[in-house]
This record gives sequence, C-alpha cells and structure tokens, in this order.
Amino acid sequence: MSRLVAPSLLSADFGNLNRDIEMVNASQADWFHLDIMDGVFVPNISFGFPVVTQVKKLAKKPLDVHLMIIDPDRYLEKFKEAGADILTVHYEACTHLHRTLSQIRNLGMKAGVSVNPHTPVELLSEILGEADLVLIMSVNPGFGGQKFIANSYRKIERLREMIDSQKLSTLIEVDGGVDANNASQLYKAGANILVAGNAVFKAENPISVIESLKKAL
Ligand code: DX5
Ligand code: ZN
Repeated sequence: MSRLVAPSLLSADFGNLNRDIEMVNASQADWFHLDIMDGVFVPNISFGFPVVTQVKKLAKKPLDVHLMIIDPDRYLEKFKEAGADILTVHYEACTHLHRTLSQIRNLGMKAGVSVNPHTPVELLSEILGEADLVLIMSVNPGFGGQKFIANSYRKIERLREMIDSQKLSTLIEVDGGVDANNASQLYKAGANILVAGNAVFKAENPISVIESLKKAL
C-alpha cells in the first residue's frame, strides 16, 4: 500500500520559508501540505494565494492544499492557478460535494474530501468514487500542535473497509497530531498519507523525522 508523507507548512518558520521549503525538497517527503483557513470555517486565519504561488515556485514536489474555508467553490480555479496539485475541501463546508469534487478534477487537480472529528466516515459512502483521497482530521482543524484524537484509528479502519469493499483506490490521509510515535499504528489502521506539522518543523532534525514517518514499521 502506498505511503506518503506531507509536511504541513503551517508549522514552518515564515521568516525563513525558503529555507524550510528547501529542507522539504531535500527530504524523503512526498508532498507539501498547505493549510488555508478563512477565520469562519475554523477559528484561525492562515495564508492565501500569494504564499501558495511563492511556495509553488520553489517546491520540487506536489502541493497538497487543504481548504478549511466555507463555500470553497468560489476559489477552486484560483487555487489551480496558484499551483495546487491536490485540492481538498471539507465535507462540512460543501452543499453540493459531488459537483465540487467533479469541478476539482475537471480543473486537472486530484480531489480530496476532509471530515472533521465529529463527522462519521459512513457519510462518504456515496461519494468515495469521486474522491482521490479522504483526509481524516485527527484534531479539530484550525491549529498546529494539538493532541491526536485516538478515535481516529477506528475511523481510518472503517474507511479502509469501505474503500476496499467498493474496490476503489481512494487514498486515506491523516492530519493532526501525527508524529513518529503514532505513524506505525496509523499505517496499520489503513492510512496512506501522513501530514505532520509540529512533529517535523519543531524538531531538531526535521529530515530524520520525515524519514522515520516514512519508514515507520
Ligand atoms: C490543522 C491543519 C494541520 C496542521 C497539523 O488544522 O489542518 O495540517 O498543520 O499540525 P500538527 O501536525 O502540528 O498537528
Ligand atoms: Zn491540514
């Protein structure tokens, strides 16, 4: 099963963003994870198009853009122009999720759907075929450095069963409180992509943390 690691730039040093992007370029990481927050869907505001555009210029790996914004349909095209390769919207923020995911794919990006900790994965059963990935939030979205919610393991296992029983290749991404201690259990539960912010960027040796996330047994 494929295993990818996506460091979340939310925890990077924005005064030294070029340096942190080069670190990820040089590491075993697979994607850059970029968190877009609107201060409405989540109680925080992060960054927008100028930052995404700048990251795209330096990044040698795909941009995995996680939209924590209401009514994301308004901006799908703009994120494509800014350089998103994978675009993930929240189940809770989309009235017509099928249409939104189709539009993301029609724009030439991979489409992701994310669920908050309180949202059952069973609600995705009719839409799984339209999604390239499902992002399980393992903290309440809005901030880096929060504690992993243990119920997420069961959600990943249940989602893995749903994907396998429908014979789909949808990937499972996990975001929030991921570190070298829980990586192995997350892969065992059925996760394919681990997002890590604090665990990577607050570490003394980020390159080796990325390696241990990638190679967790
Ligand atoms: C939280 C964001 C995450 C965040 C993860 O709302 O979606 O991507 O950066 O940070 P850590 O890994 O520190 O929990
Ligand atoms: Zn995220």
